[in-house]
Order: sequence, then C-alpha cells, then structure tokens
Amino acid sequence: RILKRTWRVTYLSALAGIAYIGYGVYQDRHPEDQVEPDPSKKTLVILGTGWGSVSLLKRLDTENYNVVVISPRNYFLFTPLLPSCTTGTIEHRSIMEPIRTILRSKRARVKFYEAEASSIDPDRKVVRIFDNSEIRGDITETEVPYDMLVVGVGAENATFGIPGVRENSCFLKEIGDAQRIRKRIMDCVETAAFKDQSPEEVDRLMHMVVVGGGPTGVEFAGELQDFFQEDIKKLVPDIADRFKVTLIEALPNVLPMFSKQLIEYTEKSFKEEKIDIRTKTVVKRVTDKAVEAEAVAADGTKETVVFPYGLLVWATGNAVRPVVRDLMARIPAQANSRRGLAVNEYLVVQGTHDIWAVGDCAVAGYAPTAQVAGQEGTFLARLFNNMAKTEMLEDKMAQLSASLNVEPGNPAAVSREIEEHDRQLRRIKDVKPFHYSHQGSLAYIGSDKAVADVTWFNGNVAAAGSLTYLFWRSAYISMCFSTRNRLLVINDWLKSKVFGRDLSRE
Ligand code: FAD
Ligand code: NAI
Repeated sequence: RILKRTWRVTYLSALAGIAYIGYGVYQDRHPEDQVEPDPSKKTLVILGTGWGSVSLLKRLDTENYNVVVISPRNYFLFTPLLPSCTTGTIEHRSIMEPIRTILRSKRARVKFYEAEASSIDPDRKVVRIFDNSEIRGDITETEVPYDMLVVGVGAENATFGIPGVRENSCFLKEIGDAQRIRKRIMDCVETAAFKDQSPEEVDRLMHMVVVGGGPTGVEFAGELQDFFQEDIKKLVPDIADRFKVTLIEALPNVLPMFSKQLIEYTEKSFKEEKIDIRTKTVVKRVTDKAVEAEAVAADGTKETVVFPYGLLVWATGNAVRPVVRDLMARIPAQANSRRGLAVNEYLVVQGTHDIWAVGDCAVAGYAPTAQVAGQEGTFLARLFNNMAKTEMLEDKMAQLSASLNVEPGNPAAVSREIEEHDRQLRRIKDVKPFHYSHQGSLAYIGSDKAVADVTWFNGNVAAAGSLTYLFWRSAYISMCFSTRNRLLVINDWLKSKVFGRDLSRE
C-alpha cells in the first residue's frame, strides 16, 4: 500500500510539474498586451545584456520608467556552459536567450537598440552609440539621453600587452569565440591527418595549449580532453597518440579561488587524463606557431620554454572595456580605480549620482563572476522599484497636503491618508546596502568529474568527483535562463552521449 501511495504521489507530482512547465511555455508564447511607456517618467538606460543587466531587467517593474536597453548582443548568454560549446557537447544556441523574448515578457514596453556604447557623457547625460553589425542603415551613430544609467558592459580579455596574443590566440568569452575554437580544433585534426604530413608538424598541430589556469582555462582543458578521448580518438585513429593538451599558469597552482584539497584533486585528475600542467610558467611572447614562456624551476632558476601549438586558447582573466575606461577618465573620483568603475554600497558609480554599475565592469569588492553580477542586478531592480514607489508616494503626499490647505473637504480623512502614505514611505525607503551572498564555486574538470566549494548552513563543503559532476549538471540546468534553454541543454547532453559529438567543421 505504501508503495502504491508513493507511486501515486510521484505520478501526480510529475503531472503537476509537466502542467506547470506547459503553462509557462504557453504564457511565453502568448504574452499579455504590453502598456506603452509613459513619456513623463524618467528614462532609464541599461547598457549590456549580460548577467548583471538581464538580472536587473528580469525583476524591474518597467511601468515605472522609460527603459532603453543598448547592447551589441541581442541575446543573453549563459556563460557557465560556454566551454561545452567549444567541443559541441552543447550547441551554442541552446545557451542563448533572445533579448526580445525577455523584453516581451515585461509589463510595459522596453526599447532595445542593438549597438555598442562608445562613450558616456555624465555632464550632458547622454550615451553615444554606434551600430557595429554587418548591415547598417543611413544612421549608424547617434546619442541616447538618460535620466538614470546602468553600466553593465562586462569586461574584455586581458592580454597584458604580451606580443602576438591578440593576433594568434582564440579567446573564450563570447559565442563567436567558442565557434572559432570548435572550427580550429577540427582544422588542426584534419590538417594533421593530411597525406605525408611530417611527424613534427603532426605533433605541433595536435598540441592544444591553454594559457591561464583559472576556471575558464581548466574547464576548457577538461572539455577538450573529453572530446579527444570520447570522439576524435575513435574517429581519427591515425593521429590518436599525438593529441596533447598543455595548461600554462603563472602562479604555483591552478584554480586559486578553490580550496587546497580541490586544487590537488584537479591537478591529480589532470595528470591521470594526461593534461600537462605547467605552473610557475609565464607566457612572454606568442607567434603564429609557438608560445614562448619563462618557467621557474624547483631550484628557483628561470628558463625559457617554447611550446609549438596548433590551437592556442588565451584565458588570463578580465580587462577594462574602452567605454568604461573613457568614463573613468571623465570622473575625478575614479582616478585611483584601475580594474573598473568604483561603486559605493548602493552600486552608484563614485563621483556621480545617476549612474550605477553592475557585474564585471564594477569594482564593488567581489570577484568578477556571474553570481555576483546576477545578485547586483537583482539588488538594483529592488532599489529602482523602491525609488519609483517612493517618488509616487511623495508626490501623492504633496498633493494631499496641498488639498488640505485649499479644500475644506474632510481634513481628518486626508490626514489619515497622509499618515498611511508616510508609513508606507518609511517602509519602502529602508533599502539596505548591497550585500553579496556567496553560494559557492563549481567547475567541471573533465572525465565526468567536477569540483565544488559550496556554502552549506554557514559552513563550507568541498566536494569532488562524479557525484559532484551530477550536482554541477543539475545546478546549471536549474540556473539556465528559460525552460527552452533547459530542454535544449538536456537534449544536447543526451545527443552527444548517445551519438557522439559532431566532428564536421562548418
Ligand atoms: P557580461 O555577462 O559579459 O555581459 C556584458 C554585456 O555587455 C554583453 O551583453 C555585451 O555584449 C555588452 N557590451 C559589451 N560592450 C558594450 C558596449 N560598449 N556597449 C553596450 N553593451 C556592451 N561565473 C560564475 O559565477 N560561474 C560560472 O560558472 C562562470 N563560468 C564562466 C565561463 C566562461 C567561459 C566565462 C568567460 C565566464 C564565466 N563566468 C562564470 C563569469 C561570468 O560570465 C561573468 O562574471 C559575467 O558574465 C559578468 O556579467 P556582466 O553582466 O558583468 O557581463
Ligand atoms: P582568472 O583571472 O580567474 O584566471 C586567469 C589566470 O591566468 C590566473 O590564474 C593568472 O595567474 C593566469 N595568467 C595571467 N597571465 C598569465 C601569463 N602571461 N602566463 C600564464 N598565466 C597567466 O580568469 P578566468 O578563468 O578567465 O575567469 C575570469 C572570472 O570568471 C573569474 O572571476 C572566475 O571566477 C570567473 N569564472 C568562473 C567560473 C566558474 O565558477 N566555474 C568559470 C569561468 C570563469
């Protein structure tokens, strides 16, 4: 009987789950009519469609402002699964969510311009934007005025001015980067398999070098080794014993933000997977076929090491975008900030009073992660919703006070109404400063293993291995932007497991 009841409960829960998902999908496809923006309200301009800006948009009550979104990317990108796109484990469209779909679900209409902000003038309160897409109309450049501005433009790839990096490396930040890497891996494989290729050239072409042992470099190296072990090796056996992945890191260990035991676990696991980790090795120069680095030996001596490569992926962290650098130069209070826009505890850009910054372009004392950017965006949505309500209540109170002086009416009722508004106002005005709540760090390290430093009941739990990998998968599935994204990612995982990854070079 217990078994029967359990089965019935499971069956009903599954049905309820399916109905819930179905209703969500139906609502997305048949959204309610939107209200037109009210021209008398303030213009809120949001730059970027990444983690920070989209988290803000998701929770912002767009009826309170005239919202304008500007970004060269007309979609949101779920970056945690980007390394999986480089090998075709996940198809790139599965982790993209069109910004038009996101904006259509808002109550009041939001304007979107696919454009890049080239400069921000805080004195005139305008953003200069230009259309950098392939197809351009008569107007390619213009200005957008704002009353309130949120800068969420993220960061660009750091190269530290090392010669040859920009010209010869692949980066891993955008969809285009992942597609380029995927193409290049297969180009290296097919070129290495070309008739009469010399053994030295096969070794070079099959050598995949990753620079930067942060989570981006580690996750990519893991995905690459999986691709080779599970697919390339079987389908292109002639070059099977020549494939090699090298991970170069300047510091004494990889994944510096993880706990010591997880660093050791990752390094041991990479060794088993035959990924060569070169720590204490700083890349100094890059040519089209080789990476030159300075390595510190155990006795402290320095030597120059040359790594011939077929594919070079550069993952050495973030640098400030030009539009942010330009804005910082215009604000005297930003003179000492080096890594981005210094913000206060309400994420207001220091030295301004109507510009806020979120995510990787803001310096708020936290790591540049999606988790931080997402929480900052959510905080700003709450703050802006509150600000709008406060203004509305203040206006209403001013009107009521005025009517109390002019019209005889019922002064007691009006006073009661004023008191009630005042109470609401005090409640609303009490917005606490931004506080980041760290949920933990997760990284995939290849061979169906992951590492996780997770916050659990105010403590820290470090876990690694295959079970952690299942946790990694379920966590990222639940974090995906939409039901559509979730279903597509699950489908891609199943597809690559059952049929193998697609080796065609588009
Ligand atoms: P982004 O998400 O980068 O968005 C910036 C937006 O601004 C984009 O839409 C861009 O097109 C737009 N933009 C750029 N220039 C301009 C301009 N001039 N004008 C207007 N718009 C502009 N973090 C985690 O917490 N967990 C993870 O697992 C994780 N995995 C990652 C994997 C990879 C491969 C990478 C690269 C990063 C990963 N991160 C992860 C870090 C995370 O992606 C970033 O911290 C996060 O994207 C920052 O959000 P953001 O909104 O500041 O910037
Ligand atoms: P990172 O800044 O975390 O790591 C870059 C690494 O490159 C550093 O360890 C640095 O020592 C090394 N480096 C720099 N110059 C070098 C040189 N010349 N030669 C050799 N090594 C050099 O950068 P990453 O991995 O791109 O991450 C950026 C941000 O995104 C981080 O905040 C990270 O936490 C976050 N992220 C989080 C992920 C996750 O949680 N799973 C996945 C990917 C990124």
